[in-house]
Amino acid sequence: DVDQLVDRFGRVARDLRVSITEKCSLRCTYCMPEEGLPAIPAENLLTANEIVRLVDIAVHRLGVREVRFTGGEPLMRVDLEQMIAGCAERAPGVPLAMTTNAVGLEHRAAGLARAGLTRVNVSLDSVDREHFARLTRRDRLPSVIAGIRAAARAGLAPLKINAVLMPETLSGAADLLEWCLSEGVALRFIEEMPLDADHEWARENMVAADRLLAVLGERFTLTEHGREDPSAPAEEWLVDGGPATVGIIASVTRSFCSDCDRTRLTAEGTVRSCLFSDQEIDLRAALRSGASDEELAQLWRGAMWNKWAGHGINADGFAPPQRSMGAIGG
Ligand code: GTP
Ligand code: 5AD
Ligand code: SF4
Repeated sequence: DVDQLVDRFGRVARDLRVSITEKCSLRCTYCMPEEGLPAIPAENLLTANEIVRLVDIAVHRLGVREVRFTGGEPLMRVDLEQMIAGCAERAPGVPLAMTTNAVGLEHRAAGLARAGLTRVNVSLDSVDREHFARLTRRDRLPSVIAGIRAAARAGLAPLKINAVLMPETLSGAADLLEWCLSEGVALRFIEEMPLDADHEWARENMVAADRLLAVLGERFTLTEHGREDPSAPAEEWLVDGGPATVGIIASVTRSFCSDCDRTRLTAEGTVRSCLFSDQEIDLRAALRSGASDEELAQLWRGAMWNKWAGHGINADGFAPPQRSMGAIGG
């Protein structure tokens, strides 16, 4: 059928993540600098129509089966609904997801669902208001909670919460799990990766999966439950015998790069084969100078063919990439 996105290691990328902006309403310390990321000049940002065209190519010529919008914060774009409606029209049946901080989602969840968004993952590290404000440098917890509830009401399911593990959040981890269980939403904890804009990540400070398991084990009984599917980043644990689960994305201590199925588009229209590889291939210039769908697909295939084996965080001489998480798309 289609000529898929394969790399030299035989992996096939079927999961497309599209970053649509560098802007964000929060300033999580593990992601963004205090002042925010440098603004992308408007003319360098892909337009909604350009994104729809590239998603169409990814689905129909490259075998992509799921699309996720990220940022920065995708809700910072006012044309998000239009973009999603366009993708839903050109790629019917393909799940369209979003990773968001949920600030302001309260007012847009229903409209996004109507436009064709299927589900959302919400970044939320603490349900303690002061704690949240310190971590994100913004006092917006009430808006986030309202956003999560509105998304659930709008049928954006399954809704998953992402919590990046930091030394400051570890003591609140069990409370966060308790809250998610009571709200009926899934929770995944994430090991912090060296993708913070301030380059302050240090292995000694990282909270590893094993340490989290010990802390959660003081309040819950956890039983190993495996991965949803082989390329899923999260390993699941049954909570108190189930059916509820908690997930752990142990990118650093139990990396899953050998099963990676991701391809990324940055907000500026480059293909990024891995979070950690700054070798990007520019589709925007080609697109704006009249390239055909097949020419763009071929550039994309070339970019993915050269994907690295893995992130290399655990190798000697590791150096973090130039772009931070907020500039790549989580
Ligand atoms: P689901 O399909 O709902 O499971 O989404 P997802 O986990 O693929 O996406 P999400 O955006 O919620 O990502 C969760 C976390 O996984 C991110 O915040 C990152 O920390 C981590 N993550 C996402 N993509 C990658 C990746 O390519 N490599 C690694 N190592 N970690 C990733
Ligand atoms: N390490 C791991 N995950 C991160 N995220 C942001 N920065 C990092 C990091 N340094 C996550 C957010 C969100 C997604 C966009 O990326 O929590 O879930
Ligand atoms: Fe913004 Fe998301 Fe980064 Fe937090 S993690 S600063 S919400 S992009």
